[in-house]
Amino acid sequence: MNAPLPLIDATDRVAFVTGAAGGIGGACVAQLLAAGASVVATGRREVEIADHPKLLKLSLQVTDEAQVQAAIAMTKDRFGAIDYVIHMAGMVGKGRLDQMDLKDWHTVVDTNLTSAFLLLKHAYPLLRKPGGAVVLCGSSNGTNGGSYLSGAAYASSKAALNNLTRYCAKEWAPDGIRVNMISPGPVDTPMLDRLSSEQHTALKAGLPLGRYATADECAAATLFLCSSHAASMTGTNTNISSGLVLDR
Ligand SMILES: NC(=O)c1ccc[n+]([C@@H]2O[C@H](COP(=O)([O-])OP(=O)(O)OC[C@H]3O[C@@H](n4cnc5c(N)ncnc54)[C@H](OP(=O)(O)O)[C@@H]3O)[C@@H](O)[C@H]2O)c1
Repeated sequence: MNAPLPLIDATDRVAFVTGAAGGIGGACVAQLLAAGASVVATGRREVEIADHPKLLKLSLQVTDEAQVQAAIAMTKDRFGAIDYVIHMAGMVGKGRLDQMDLKDWHTVVDTNLTSAFLLLKHAYPLLRKPGGAVVLCGSSNGTNGGSYLSGAAYASSKAALNNLTRYCAKEWAPDGIRVNMISPGPVDTPMLDRLSSEQHTALKAGLPLGRYATADECAAATLFLCSSHAASMTGTNTNISSGLVLDR
């Protein structure tokens, strides 16, 4: 793979990234390092990104409040402050609502939504004021209702993230902290490995552009939202769905 082209100059900036062992989170880490940022790359499993002098890799289960607090404390020890919080950890559910267990509902909602609350709550004291930027990760499912392919808890939690974004955008604007969200449609990452080839064909056929987004495209939109190019953007939801979501 070619080295990513820097979209922004993030020298002297500190980014805290969740889901860094995953497709989009990993692409965010690579692009942030290329842009000169110091990066705290957190993952539930080991983050397989080559060591770098500006990279701190941490194990983090985003649903565990004590682990979130510990990761933020380690970030404070190492870097002193956070400029960008980039929350890409997430999981899908599956199946019809009438066949879904309460335990599975809670697992998906906790992973996608409650994790964002925990992260924002504990990162806030360390976020640079003014200048901090947060990017949460929604989904086209949060706008169009989703389907049994990802399940009701996924669609509901991603829709709720949209309003959490707007809530924090308003609450934190006086601090000079911006809060935005990206909402991808299907992205070519391990998250889609669960689908059969027939399901891939049907999914692509429903995309006006006829292609999945890439993790790099999602990361580039995320870096843009963090950057000074987006200094007047807060409470927004960037649609990266290959035309799947158009009428709102
Ligand atoms: N791919 C798509 O089609 C698509 C579409 C719309 C939105 N999104 C969103 O994009 C974000 C990134 O997903 P992706 O496409 O990059 O998929 P991915 O490669 O599966 O990455 C998701 C990452 O989240 C991590 N994660 C899940 N539960 C966690 C937990 N409790 N604590 C910490 N980390 C946890 C996973 O960890 P493990 O590696 O340990 O499993 C994985 O590394 C997600 O929020 C997803 O909902 C993806």
